[in-house]
Amino acid sequence: MKVLVTGGAGYIGSHTICELLDHGMEVVSADNFQNAVPETFERIEAITGQKVVNENLDLSEVKACQILFEQHPDITAIIHFAARKAVGESVEKPLVYYRNNLNSTINLLHFGTLAGVKHLVFSSSCTVYGNPGNQPVDEDSPVGNIESPYGYTKMMGEQILRDHIHSHPSFSGISLRYFNPVGAHPSGKLGELPLGKPNNLVPFITETAIGLRPCLEVFGADYDTPDGTPIRDYVHVVDIAKAHVQALLHIQQSDQRERFEVFNLGTGKGMSVLEIIQAFEQATGVALNYRFSPRRAGDVETIYANADKAAQVLKWQPEYSLETMMASAWKWQQHLANQR
Ligand code: WQD
Repeated sequence: MKVLVTGGAGYIGSHTICELLDHGMEVVSADNFQNAVPETFERIEAITGQKVVNENLDLSEVKACQILFEQHPDITAIIHFAARKAVGESVEKPLVYYRNNLNSTINLLHFGTLAGVKHLVFSSSCTVYGNPGNQPVDEDSPVGNIESPYGYTKMMGEQILRDHIHSHPSFSGISLRYFNPVGAHPSGKLGELPLGKPNNLVPFITETAIGLRPCLEVFGADYDTPDGTPIRDYVHVVDIAKAHVQALLHIQQSDQRERFEVFNLGTGKGMSVLEIIQAFEQATGVALNYRFSPRRAGDVETIYANADKAAQVLKWQPEYSLETMMASAWKWQQHLANQR
């Protein structure tokens, strides 16, 4: 099986490539380094011993996407990670987000199907559930009332895939709704690499702990939660990566129940921001400098997953503990510091 991984130099894409190679799958990446660096492929090679071909092109451009499939006519499946993903930026530049994230998905489906690709695994997000009332959230929970254009690109991406599959009986797809992916490869050689100031909690924690940032701001202590800070479902990025392998294995089975399926990927455990800070301090022995700030616009109070469907159908279960998530993120941050 030859798998096209779009966004292969990105955080989840790079960890997924390692897992795919580990399972003997052939991989080609398409990444234009808009929010990633070429060195990621050297890191992947250091871990797996294998070189990955990357095509540096913009998938939202029709011609570039067409050429990609002409150059790689033997691709059988696509895992589509490549997207802009900064929630706040998407509010400021919605057209950039809709143009990039939707056009790339449309182009991949169009030219991929023409080239004989049979399957696409879509990188979606729990953000499609908006601000859900009932917890944990399962796949039947309503989507919508989303806080950002970024989130809407994920919801629309799922709909585009669903409709395309409906009109192409030979095509099937899976949408994976990630909760909060954190942590890094156990080797410490691969991890999240935010360019500039991190938006997400765990990279901000590790950059503060190593001294790159003076202080972590905890956005809001007045939520209706046990300690007043928001609750999320943090899941190890390697567990998320492994789910993509399971998704590809499942999607190839001719008895796949539905040709389009959606799965939540989370641990099912809700953790508050203060619990994450505490877990980091305990796992690493490093005291973190933090202070409370006003709420961040667009943050929901509580969301965590019911991931029973992924366990039953994909035979996927997260294996890594919260402690390992924090320790591996810290190991990666230290690895980066040693390279500077
Ligand atoms: C987690 C918690 C913050 C930074 C986003 C996307 C989602 C997904 C993952 C992306 C919140 C708090 C954070 C900081 C803080 N996909 N926080 N200080 O917002 O749950 O999810 O990223 O690609 O679609 O919406 O993740 O890590 O930003 O925040 O207090 O400096 O940490 O307020 O409660 P979020 P996050």
